[in-house]
Amino acid sequence: MKLTSDELRKKWMDFFIARGHTPISSASLIPENDPTVLFTTAGMHPLVPYLLGQPHPAGKRLCDTQKCVRTGDIDEVGDASHCTFFEMLGNWSLGDYFKDEMVPWSYEFLTEQLNLDPARLAVTVFEGDADCPRDDKTAELWEKCGIKKENIFFLGKKHNWWGPAGQTGPCGSDTEMFYDTGKPKCCPECSPACDCGKYVEIWNDVFMQFNKNADGTFSQLKQKNVDTGMGLERVLMNVQGLKSVYETDVFAPIVGKIEQLSGKSIADGECVKAIRVIADHIRTATFIIGDERGVTPSNVDQGYILRRLLRRAIRFGKGLGLKNGDYSAIAATVVDKYKDAYPELLSARDKIIHEIDEEQARFERTLENGMKEFEKLCKFLQSDVIPGKSAFRLYDTYGFPLEMTVELANERGFKVDIDGFNARFEEHKNLSHAGAEQRFKGGLADTGELTARLHTATHLMHRALKEVLNDPTVNQRGSNITPERLRFDFSFGRAMTPDEIKAVEDKVNAAIKADVPIVCEEMTVDEAKAQGAVGLFTAKYGEKVKVYTMGEFSKEICGGPHAARTGELGHFRIVKEQSSSAGVRRIKAVLE
Ligand code: SER
Repeated sequence: MKLTSDELRKKWMDFFIARGHTPISSASLIPENDPTVLFTTAGMHPLVPYLLGQPHPAGKRLCDTQKCVRTGDIDEVGDASHCTFFEMLGNWSLGDYFKDEMVPWSYEFLTEQLNLDPARLAVTVFEGDADCPRDDKTAELWEKCGIKKENIFFLGKKHNWWGPAGQTGPCGSDTEMFYDTGKPKCCPECSPACDCGKYVEIWNDVFMQFNKNADGTFSQLKQKNVDTGMGLERVLMNVQGLKSVYETDVFAPIVGKIEQLSGKSIADGECVKAIRVIADHIRTATFIIGDERGVTPSNVDQGYILRRLLRRAIRFGKGLGLKNGDYSAIAATVVDKYKDAYPELLSARDKIIHEIDEEQARFERTLENGMKEFEKLCKFLQSDVIPGKSAFRLYDTYGFPLEMTVELANERGFKVDIDGFNARFEEHKNLSHAGAEQRFKGGLADTGELTARLHTATHLMHRALKEVLNDPTVNQRGSNITPERLRFDFSFGRAMTPDEIKAVEDKVNAAIKADVPIVCEEMTVDEAKAQGAVGLFTAKYGEKVKVYTMGEFSKEICGGPHAARTGELGHFRIVKEQSSSAGVRRIKAVLE
């Protein structure tokens, strides 16, 4: 069967629209109001508030095609299926239908829209544990659809649980659908859980009915949701039995362009990895620059990931003999391929080309400096071996791939301490992965729940500071909250004493212990002032404002969000009190 990406997107949308879903457009790749993740990593990511219960303006049944970037596996890119950018087809029930509808729909879509042979479908369901019972219901539904009992596998949390995407937030058991490639079983226990390649994953239905709390426990969400995700590129590959995603129609013209520019073929085993890496990285870079909230290469955050992708592509391109201007020409092919599905790329076409050319020029200059460094290194070398440390410095600071350093060294009759390089590389990888994972782990519901709690704590602390310091100049000057900590700047002329810090902590913890409800009322600014509410940054307020009251402990004008009760906050601790600028102090505090 020949299935193109355009057809698959259309089949998906038509199928769910016919079942009462409202199509929504892909959210930006750069998450809004979420400082803790760099990119949108799944279709559910922009929908977290609605999975938690906030009403979505488009209703309770939604479907879309979401642009996603995941860079955790960047080193795997070059194999058959890892991509840093992918499209996720998704549909959602926000507290509407649940398993009874979703399982038969999934079966119908797989067998009637994708024309997959029912006998070759295998599914996994959750085997149950102390947090959530065994999902016999879903297994029964699959069996009723026609999946053979021996093709239904019960697996544990490791395989059949999705989320939360951060440390806390919406999550639940899932059921995953696989297609049997027909390869023989690798062992008697062979199942979709093993990675022998017999079973390839097609789709994932998450029954999102839990919230994972900061203490590791699970509580029921207000509503039972369905969140499904199908990776477009992998499905195109799997249902058509292709050997890699690069053979699907989304990659074909991009690969073709690289072949044309380089005069090399992807069929040549020597070139396959380089061509795949360039195709993947330039596609991702095109989507990042061309996003409606697009960024340009830099040394921080999304801009740094973009820079790494582009430079990695250029490094691989050197091996293929690609020249200046070739990378932006490849990007132009990407724009052309996707311009109907993602028109923002067409509007940003010139910007994409310009930024890629600029970054290439900058990288050439860095390489030039790297060559100087290399020459210097050779001059002062005390043996005929370039230390791993130096090779790594060339790699890390000047973007020299190890292969290039080895080649240059050989030309001069030197060797490179490759083990030493690898040791440094691993060390660095662990460090940067740890950093990157923190960023990815951070966000989503964290931003919802953890930051809401810290925000509530900020109100309690503000009030406690006014009382303890007993000084009318004490007032908020700034606030910044991440899921890990709150940071609060306030006007006050001197350092706080340890006793004062302790007194503020005690007051906040007493308010938490009292476990009072947090009440939100709407009123005019004048009414709020009359009630003695603390008001900040008055100029920003509209006609009506929200006033949050926490028993006797705090009354403040604020847009929220807040915890429901002070008791949810845990234990409050001030970790730092320091000067911020003249007459302004800064506190960092955490909830434990
Ligand atoms: N959130 C789930 C996933 O990423 C289903 O959409 O697989």
